[in-house]
Amino acid sequence: MKLTGLSFDDIPPLHVPLRFHITAPVFGLLAALFLLWEGPEAWMSRWTTGSLGATHLLTLGFMAMVMIGSLFQLVPVLTGRSIPATKWVAPWVHLGLTCGVIALTVALVRVDPGMFITAIALLGAAFAAFVPALVWRLARIRGGGDSIFAIRLAAASLLVTIGMGVFLAVGRAWPELEIPFRSWTDTHVLWALFGWVPLLVMGVSYQVMPMFHVAPAFDSRLARGIPLTVFLSLVLLAHARSDHLVTPFVTCLCAALLAYAATALRVLENRRRKRADPMISFWRIALASLTLATVTLWLSMATPVRITLLPESGAPLLTGALMIFGFACSMMIGMLQKIVPFLIFLHLQRQALGKPAAMMQIPATNELISDRAALWQLRLHLCACVGILVALAWPTIGRLAALLLALDFGWLLRSLILAAGEYRRRASAIEAEPDPMASGT
Ligand code: HEM
Repeated sequence: MKLTGLSFDDIPPLHVPLRFHITAPVFGLLAALFLLWEGPEAWMSRWTTGSLGATHLLTLGFMAMVMIGSLFQLVPVLTGRSIPATKWVAPWVHLGLTCGVIALTVALVRVDPGMFITAIALLGAAFAAFVPALVWRLARIRGGGDSIFAIRLAAASLLVTIGMGVFLAVGRAWPELEIPFRSWTDTHVLWALFGWVPLLVMGVSYQVMPMFHVAPAFDSRLARGIPLTVFLSLVLLAHARSDHLVTPFVTCLCAALLAYAATALRVLENRRRKRADPMISFWRIALASLTLATVTLWLSMATPVRITLLPESGAPLLTGALMIFGFACSMMIGMLQKIVPFLIFLHLQRQALGKPAAMMQIPATNELISDRAALWQLRLHLCACVGILVALAWPTIGRLAALLLALDFGWLLRSLILAAGEYRRRASAIEAEPDPMASGT
């Protein structure tokens, strides 16, 4: 594992990232069970209450949960300094996000203005605690490398996504204000799925691909040029008032996203560690989905072409499903199986420092999540991806796709809970080991 340039001096206690990483698959499972309950209707249009509810159980409940938990861990590793007051901020952000996602989902499904107000309050409080603390830390870092450069743009896109989300929710909470919120939903979706998500994945990949796969570093000009182009294209798109301005701006956005997919794939294929690793397949699924999603976005925004295989209302759902599940969830499900064992190993190693006998207690990372478990995760995930794509063309099999999704997130939850249990067992064994310094031996 390549750890050069990383600092582990100021990392938060394990419970900080772990509470987010274990809560996330619970929401993934909830999204699947909800789609199982809703049935075929949720696969027919992006505007059904089922589709809107499941979208936020996945985007806020799973993706934002993993990303925020990872940022609490990654920022101190990349910069040597943790996000301010992490020990106090993290539990509140976790609680607000968890309750806020449930409130927003209930509000979207029952179209309940009162519940929208609750969701605004809870999610508003969670992000009001997290975003300023993150921005404060990112603003005080000098330079910070290509990862921090992309993460800064991701943080700015998150701010726009959340601001738009709250604006949409206000429109729903107070219909008497007659806010034309629906005409802003696409802007919210563009900043969320084609800004915040890919920009953060770029920033993280610049670090974890060389780190876990001994791959070459990303070319710095591309590593900065691509996220900057994505961000500026989104700013211009948000201000484009006529169609003939939309085409060049969306073309720039899509060209930058395709350039990232091609660059990341080349870095991955040039890795030095060639042993079979399910994580490589998760990356390939993610980058292939990003490519397809980008092409369908370009077709739908820059050309009159219609994707004939799908019903009229299916095209936006396809782009959304490819970006949310194919790209973001694939990358995160794969990453969690690497990051959680690595963090457990790191914290046990630190705990055993000064106790040579306790070193025996430290498990290898593949003892925490075995290669066999990771391979089964990959198989379940591939089935879920295929199930979702088929369900978009034939909503009648929507419940089968939801079942495959439930198995995918259920298996991930199982792996993470077993790893956390193993950490507990080993940590108490290390604790029980006598301290040679104290006993003078
Ligand atoms: C504070 C957080 C958020 C709030 C309050 C919020 C609120 C909303 C609301 C009310 C809608 C429906 C708008 C309508 O009916 O036209 C919506 C749509 C959507 N939101 Fe969010 N959102 C938030 C965060 C996010 C995040 C972080 C993502 C993705 C990373 C996201 C992705 C989406 C998508 C994809 C849709 C469109 C669904 C569709 O068209 O099928 N949202 N959001």
